[in-house]
Order: sequence, then structure tokens, then C-alpha cells
Amino acid sequence: MTAIDIDRHEQWFAAYADRKIAGAEAVAEVLRLKCGHTRRVLTGAGEIVRAESFSPRLSRAALLAALYHDVGRFDQYLRYHTFNDRVSCNHAVLGVKILNQENCLDGEECRAMIGAAVGLHNRFALPGHLPDDLRLITLVVRDADKLDILGMMDEQLNGGAGQAEAMVFGLPEDLALASANIIAAALDGRAASYVDLKNAHDFKLLLATWIFEMNFPASRQRFAEDGHARRLLESLPPDSPYGPARAALLARFDRFCG
Ligand SMILES: [Fe+2]
Repeated sequence: MTAIDIDRHEQWFAAYADRKIAGAEAVAEVLRLKCGHTRRVLTGAGEIVRAESFSPRLSRAALLAALYHDVGRFDQYLRYHTFNDRVSCNHAVLGVKILNQENCLDGEECRAMIGAAVGLHNRFALPGHLPDDLRLITLVVRDADKLDILGMMDEQLNGGAGQAEAMVFGLPEDLALASANIIAAALDGRAASYVDLKNAHDFKLLLATWIFEMNFPASRQRFAEDGHARRLLESLPPDSPYGPARAALLARFDRFCG
């Protein structure tokens, strides 16, 4: 497959981010994190479309959706000082508004589909009736997004970056409070749900169960191989209520890496 040239769009995104950051020195660092996330999601999406041999048309649409998926994050943070959609606004919907206002996708054959994928990327579950192409590119963005979030969480939860507490929603550390539902999901091969979090360690197991939500072999492979989920699992004590789920997921990752 020939390389997909989205240079013009990458330049626009960089200039847009610079413009937003320039006007907000106090929160520049937080906004820059989103630029790094966007870059990594774009790279991850590129890896998936190559591995899955998407057509050039669909690859381009997936890459543009990946590049623009969080364009709404800048204004969200500037207006509400949080990235938490529940207490501010839906950043995906805001992103679509910005794409339209700024005419970012003018001239793109798949502009409607790309906008729709941006708008859908953060849905808890995708609607059942989506056209195949839209579903595919949205799934690429969702996988690449989760893979990068997994890496960031690993760094913050295991790297002592000081933000771990906020990440785990102020949950207690007590191992005895392990969530039976989250452990059951891990053992059954299902993605665990946030509503079942009972303690901070549950969150590490929950993140590792995202492997069951990866939509493409290439993303599942990367999930198992890049070490982040493994490190999160290994930080759970084997002789705790997490032991069997920890062992089952580690064995599954070993099979992927075999
Ligand atoms: Fe997002």
C-alpha cells in the first residue's frame, strides 16, 4: 500500500493546537499531553490499517479520524478545566463541531464518515446499525485510543508519576475489597465495567481486560506484546483474590506473544 499523505491535516492540527496552547500558558502542559496522545493514536491507527490491509480510501479515512478524534479536548479543557465528559461536555461531539466550523475536512471524499467516526469514538458501545466502513474506521480509532490510554495508565499507576490517585478515582487500596465482578469478567474473557470498581487494584485488572475489546488481530497482538497490560497485571499480588485472574490473563498474553 502506498503511503497515505495527510500532511496538510497534520500541519493544520499542529497549528490549531499551538494556537490553543499559546492562549493558555497556565494549562499548556496539560494540553500538550493531548498532542502526544493524538500523535501516538495516529501512529497506532496506521499500524492497524497496514496490518489489516485496509484499502487506501479507508486507510485515509481511518487516519484522519485518528488525527482529529480528540480535537475537541482543547476547548473542553479551556472551557471547563477538566477532561471528564460527565461533568463538562461530550468532547467527541464538540470535536465534530470544531471540524465543521474550521472546515477541516473540506475536499475529503469521506468527510461525513470521518466526522461520524470522531463523534462516535468515545461511545460506551457503538450503535448496531452503522455502515460497515464507518464501523471499521471507528473501531480502528477506538483500539488505537485504548492502546495509548493503557500505556499512559501503566506509566502513571506503576511509574509513580503522582497522578495515580486521580486515575483510580480515589478508590481505597485495600486488597480485601477486590471486586468479584471484575475478577469474574477477567476469568470469563469479558471486558470489565467501571461501575464494578471497588478498589484501586481493580482498575489495573480492568485495564488488562480491555484485550477482550480489541477489534483487530493487530491490536490484540500489540496489547499483549507492548508490556503495559503485563506490567499492570504483574503489580497485582499473586497470593491475593486477583491471583487466578492475574495468572489466566498473563497466560493468555503469553499465547499471543508465543
Ligand atoms: Fe477521545
